[in-house]
Amino acid sequence: MSKLIRVAIDGPSGAGKSTIAKAVGKQLNLDYIDTGAMYRAVAYKMIANNVSIFEMEKLEKLLAGTEIDFSNGNIILDDEIINEKIRTPEISKMASDCSALPQVREKLVALQRKMGETKNVIMDGRDIGTNVLVDAEFKLFMTASPEERAKRRYIELNEKGEKVSFAQVLKDIKERDHNDSTRALNPLKKAEDALELDTTGMSIEEVINCVLKEIK
Ligand code: DC
Repeated sequence: MSKLIRVAIDGPSGAGKSTIAKAVGKQLNLDYIDTGAMYRAVAYKMIANNVSIFEMEKLEKLLAGTEIDFSNGNIILDDEIINEKIRTPEISKMASDCSALPQVREKLVALQRKMGETKNVIMDGRDIGTNVLVDAEFKLFMTASPEERAKRRYIELNEKGEKVSFAQVLKDIKERDHNDSTRALNPLKKAEDALELDTTGMSIEEVINCVLKEIK
């Protein structure tokens, strides 16, 4: 079997990781794996089942009966397609909270590594280059200023008809940045061998071209 190609993309919320990973994956024929969506799936299930981050027994039971998969661009949780349902501010907050729990990370990281063992992947998240795929062939750390990221997220939420203020979106982003980069377990961090790219002021096409050039 020929050697697998694995691309790891990390960075804070709203840096544009998923847009870039999808486009680059399509160009290079790599399966896109959105690991943030997996934490969101767990958060969605916790909220649906009324399980809080403080109820370990309930949470472990819930995790043991949880299946998450990607198929045809859909994220599937226990046979339910949950694509749009996991993109709400409530789920964002719960995903950030539950991603600090060792039980949740252990389960999802094992799943992610398994996905990276069998196919060519482009995976985005917070700990892909530092933990999930430490020997990935290419690692990218994408950033943008909090204001720029909040602006992108604000436009996205507005287009979906969600009523939120810019100030609230910026506050949420800063809070999640803090949560994600200060948690004890595999916090958001640039891998030493990752290429850092600040996308503030760059167009999507510019970022895609830059990443493609670097990978090739
Ligand atoms: O990328 P996102 O906003 O969809 O991710 C949702 C949350 O999941 C985010 O607050 C941090 C967490 N996450 C993580 O801890 N590790 C990953 N590899 C991906 C996401």
